[in-house]
Amino acid sequence: MKGHVLIFTYGCQMNDLDTQKMYTLLARDGWAPTETLARAGLIVLNTCSVRQKAYEKALSNIGRLRPYKRRNPSLVIVVTGCIAQQKGAEIMERMPHVDAVLGTHQLHRIAEVARSCAEGNGPVSDTEMSPCIPSLDIVPDRDFVSPPHRAYLNIMQGCDNCCSYCIVPSVRGRETSRSHAGILAEVREHAARGVKEIFLLGQNVNSYSGGASFPSLLREISAVGGISRIRFTTSHPKDMGPDLMACFADLEKLCSHIHLPFQSGSDAVLRRMNRSYTKQGYLGLISGLRSARPDISFSADVIVGFPGETGREYLQTIGLIEEVRFDLLYSFKYSPRPGTKAALMEDDVPPDEKNRRLSELQAIQKGITMENHRALVGGTFEVLVDGQSARNPDQVHGRTSRNTIVNFPGKPGLAGTFRNVKITRANPNSLTGERA
Ligand code: SAH
Ligand code: SF4
Ligand code: F3S
Repeated sequence: MKGHVLIFTYGCQMNDLDTQKMYTLLARDGWAPTETLARAGLIVLNTCSVRQKAYEKALSNIGRLRPYKRRNPSLVIVVTGCIAQQKGAEIMERMPHVDAVLGTHQLHRIAEVARSCAEGNGPVSDTEMSPCIPSLDIVPDRDFVSPPHRAYLNIMQGCDNCCSYCIVPSVRGRETSRSHAGILAEVREHAARGVKEIFLLGQNVNSYSGGASFPSLLREISAVGGISRIRFTTSHPKDMGPDLMACFADLEKLCSHIHLPFQSGSDAVLRRMNRSYTKQGYLGLISGLRSARPDISFSADVIVGFPGETGREYLQTIGLIEEVRFDLLYSFKYSPRPGTKAALMEDDVPPDEKNRRLSELQAIQKGITMENHRALVGGTFEVLVDGQSARNPDQVHGRTSRNTIVNFPGKPGLAGTFRNVKITRANPNSLTGERA
């Protein structure tokens, strides 16, 4: 054994999956995972750069590792993910206790790089971007996947959109799709091992182009026996065509939930964001999806305080939220990101006003989520059990097809099975129920 490895993960589900892959590659090379910082001989920080806050948090955590390195000079510290891609070797110039920086297209090199640093061969920095990304095809060992009955698969990486506020296209590169034969082979492998739910990931999954369209890929996965549920994220409204809507009408295994970020409810702001749809266009997609799948639930991302956002424009966002009635909303204050088009615009909504808009929006959404949850009380839903509840050992938790978390009495052994649950109580972030 080489020693123990601890990986800290920031950012999105794509980074979570990259972390599972790195644990897998490192375990194959003799590193044992640990959750104890003091025990680790290798620490990887898998970082996110999407908003200023995420960026600062990761950087300050890298800084905090300095005393660990002083105490144990053989400790190896590697920075991966989107900050690694953005900053490259500059990270090591500013923080010499970092041994290696590995960009988003070089993740497959993690074991080799960790080994080289551990052997004292000096710092490594590799942020090369290539049209083929070897790590996309790595299948994480089930030991590093939680819960084991759900498998996350990258079907593409990168983004060809140019939303004016967003750093993702520059840190993840151009859209690169994985071959559809490779994806299907992996899905079949998971099905044979008892996986129940397939979760497809990518910055923009519905522009997938790996030899089949995204809707055909969904249809093919749906035909694989043993798989009961399919989910995906994230989709862009511009690629939400009639074929994909038809999947929600036709494919029983496709869950009744979609994450469809809208970012703003103001056409003028959407134009400045370069989002290429209007509020009416977005609402049209929502009603099309509701016709295809009447019980569908929606979640989304929204930004407040984009440059030039007036009070009226902000209220149009609130109007959209009240019209769609999302189950879940991820809401963010705009922060300028280096190298983006919006960073050249004046960041003119004052911080206090951004805070006010964000907390008002969140309070409104909280009310809507609660009302949506209350409407489910008395109904019976099929729940895929994920495991024991953290707060109550006599309860288990799982998700409905609509992606709502449900807690109900049961033994941990129920994990990975489907149970019909009658909803008895609505909570702000979940539902409570009993076996039907
Ligand atoms: N590919 C996905 C996710 C992008 S990042 C998509 O297109 O939806 C996740 C979310 O972060 C975005 O949807 C957006 O709401 C938010 N975000 C991105 N850049 C931001 C910025 N500069 N300031 C504030 N929020 C931002
Ligand atoms: Fe960023 Fe827009 Fe691409 Fe999403 S679609 S990753 S918000 S550029
Ligand atoms: Fe963050 Fe990179 Fe994901 S910037 S949101 S970790 S793609």
